[in-house]
Amino acid sequence: MENFDVNKLQSLCNDVDHYILCTQEYEKRVAWLPDYMKWVNTYLATQVLDKLDVTLPEGGAFRHLGVGSGEGVVEYQLLSRILNKHPSIHNTVIDPSSKQVDLYKKLIKEKAPALDGVRYDWRLQTLGEYQQSSEESGDNTKFHFISALYCLYYEPDMDAALEFLYSRLEPGGVLLVGMETDSCDMIKIEQHFQFAQDDMNQFFCTRDICAYYEKQRIPYLVCNQPDDQRDFDITDCFDDASDEGALVLDFLSNVLHFRQTVPPSLLKEFRDYLKKLATLRDGKVFLYYDSAYILALKNKVPNISGDAGL
Ligand SMILES: C[S@@+](CC[C@H](N)C(=O)[O-])C[C@H]1O[C@@H](n2cnc3c(N)ncnc32)[C@H](O)[C@@H]1O
Repeated sequence: MENFDVNKLQSLCNDVDHYILCTQEYEKRVAWLPDYMKWVNTYLATQVLDKLDVTLPEGGAFRHLGVGSGEGVVEYQLLSRILNKHPSIHNTVIDPSSKQVDLYKKLIKEKAPALDGVRYDWRLQTLGEYQQSSEESGDNTKFHFISALYCLYYEPDMDAALEFLYSRLEPGGVLLVGMETDSCDMIKIEQHFQFAQDDMNQFFCTRDICAYYEKQRIPYLVCNQPDDQRDFDITDCFDDASDEGALVLDFLSNVLHFRQTVPPSLLKEFRDYLKKLATLRDGKVFLYYDSAYILALKNKVPNISGDAGL
């Protein structure tokens, strides 16, 4: 390992197709995914609806901005609940990956007519590109609900991204950010090895989001998923012959073709660290996953104390 330059490792973000394969392989292992989706559709959507303070003019549309919406599976759960209250939604979706957007469009077709009240404005852009193009064109559209789920770490400056998103929130609106917490083994791995940390790959977790809101005195609340077994099987990460294990190693290390690229000593060090974090059950190896959702609120009452957003 002495002569190996870890700075040359390429991050997963350099190959979106491969990244999607890795996330799909990871999701296959998440046995709690159906329960989690149910939680999003019931508890989380109820929290968002409770906190929204939106009265629309007759025939007016509820405006949603989806940032890094991916395949749309999580946002779909939220929008289908919001539709019950606001039957017309204008949904601006920002995602730089055409593959992801195609999957989202496929989901909409599958869910029709349940999503018939939603009109879409697709933007094949990163959040930074969207900010730049909307500022250049003088588009200052404000949204009632903004969701940025598991994507803000791909922006070079998360505080600037939060500042921009909060500025695009209507008074009475909600900005929802989903992200891993620092109890999540994936965050521990990222912090320990710091592989392929470029502008697109910084190790943010929910603590950084809360710190920003505290600093800006923005009111927020944190919603955690129920704390039952949120782990996933990584047993085949230790099997050199497993293609699936190689994809999960890429996902965990954030490195493109990790097993095929790093010297055996670094692969061993990485696997040893995984074992240190892991729990063993029924002869299998599991890592722990944890994330939370943070709802930032923009109250309608004019601010008399000087606090941001109040
Ligand atoms: C981990 S996926 C999350 C997808 C979805 N939000 C979810 O919760 O299932 C990250 C998504 O962010 C998108 N993305 C990557 N860089 C981005 C950026 N700079 N701005 C906005 N979206 C980005 C990716 O294309 C991908 O669809």
